[in-house]
Amino acid sequence: MSVWYPYSQMKSMPTPFRVVSGHGARLRLDDGRELIDSISSWWCMIHGYAHPEIVAAIVDQAQRLPHVMLGGLSHGPADDLAARLAEISPGDLSYVFFGDSGSVGVEIALKIAVQYFRNQGLFNKSKIAFLSGAYHGDTLGAMSVCDPVEGMHHLFDGVLIPQIQLPRPPKWGASGVDEYLSVVETILCANKDQLCGLIVEPLMQGAGGFYLYHPDVLRGLRRLCDQVGILLICDEVATGFGRLGVMFASELAGVVPDVSVLGKALTGGHLGMSATMVRPHVFERFYSDVADHALMHGPTFMGNPLACRAALASIELMMDGSVLNRITQIEIRLKRLLKLVGLSQVRDVRVMGALGVVEVVDSSILRQSSQIAAECGVWLRSFGNVIYTAPPYVITDDELDSVMGAIEQIVIGKR
Ligand SMILES: Cc1ncc(COP(=O)(O)O)c(C=O)c1O
Repeated sequence: MSVWYPYSQMKSMPTPFRVVSGHGARLRLDDGRELIDSISSWWCMIHGYAHPEIVAAIVDQAQRLPHVMLGGLSHGPADDLAARLAEISPGDLSYVFFGDSGSVGVEIALKIAVQYFRNQGLFNKSKIAFLSGAYHGDTLGAMSVCDPVEGMHHLFDGVLIPQIQLPRPPKWGASGVDEYLSVVETILCANKDQLCGLIVEPLMQGAGGFYLYHPDVLRGLRRLCDQVGILLICDEVATGFGRLGVMFASELAGVVPDVSVLGKALTGGHLGMSATMVRPHVFERFYSDVADHALMHGPTFMGNPLACRAALASIELMMDGSVLNRITQIEIRLKRLLKLVGLSQVRDVRVMGALGVVEVVDSSILRQSSQIAAECGVWLRSFGNVIYTAPPYVITDDELDSVMGAIEQIVIGKR
């Protein structure tokens, strides 16, 4: 075996299933079995595998121009995608810097926040505030704003840039939002001179256990960022493109961030890409007669034409109202998981949009979860004490029932 697999002890990991193709919500394995992908390949394959319209757009583009650098050159798909993203994004988020993964999109957002103040001569303002429980990616800058304990990065203590850690918001439905915001206010005010931004996953902390918090918190954080004079960065890499039942989670709170990061589902999951978007007042700090005010960043594959075409095709599919309607139906069906509430092994069940989460008391019952699910014809991968589904929106009702059946079997055991 020469492939080095993610988040796995290579010595003891089970042999991975070998996938030969995928269609709709299903993966076909080399032994002929099919598994329903209940987690959309880490939440990105929102329209299912090999969606014909996305594939056609990629093939068409591959025959014309599979790639070209954006340094000094440009192309139609990049222009079209930037314009389309500006149209569909909240408020006046209108300038788009392309990257190639969610982590890189976050790195770009962090650099923008730092340089926004440097370009005004404010060199001390270089720290980022982040929420406990956060996950923003695996590169060193992104790791510096992940929860140091839960963010899987404890091994890198001492290497990462020290940032300003805020407490975790009360979970959705719990009281204490005002008290929480006043604690955050105290920390932000005390660190005002060194802070340039606050990064959050709006309403749902994904890898931090699919933890949901109320829109009032996000509205409060927006107000505090304005009060303290720092940029609000919404990392919509996991929440963007319908996962919580709306196009972007920040919309649910009526909040327009200064910087927004998109990734994962941006291309319908068919190619790696991120888009870091800013509002005009941010862009204007870089638009200058001073050469050094330029944003010094430029991944080789930024704005890749294949990825742009895939993203344009995926957005067109999303904009057809039937997808958001389907997500509502998925949400209604996923609420059947709520019957697990009250079982001694279950701590919490949460359902929002096309996301269903069961948090168990003892994570050891999830140890064999992928294997048990596969026996039920389902692909899932739990983590920590959380088992979840974030299916492709094309999943059928029957497939969704199989997914929920597998989750029940793992949590309750064979009956
Ligand atoms: C909120 C959030 N930000 C950033 C990332 C990193 O994205 P990528 O894995 O594409 O680098 C992730 C990945 O799970 C994420 O959930």
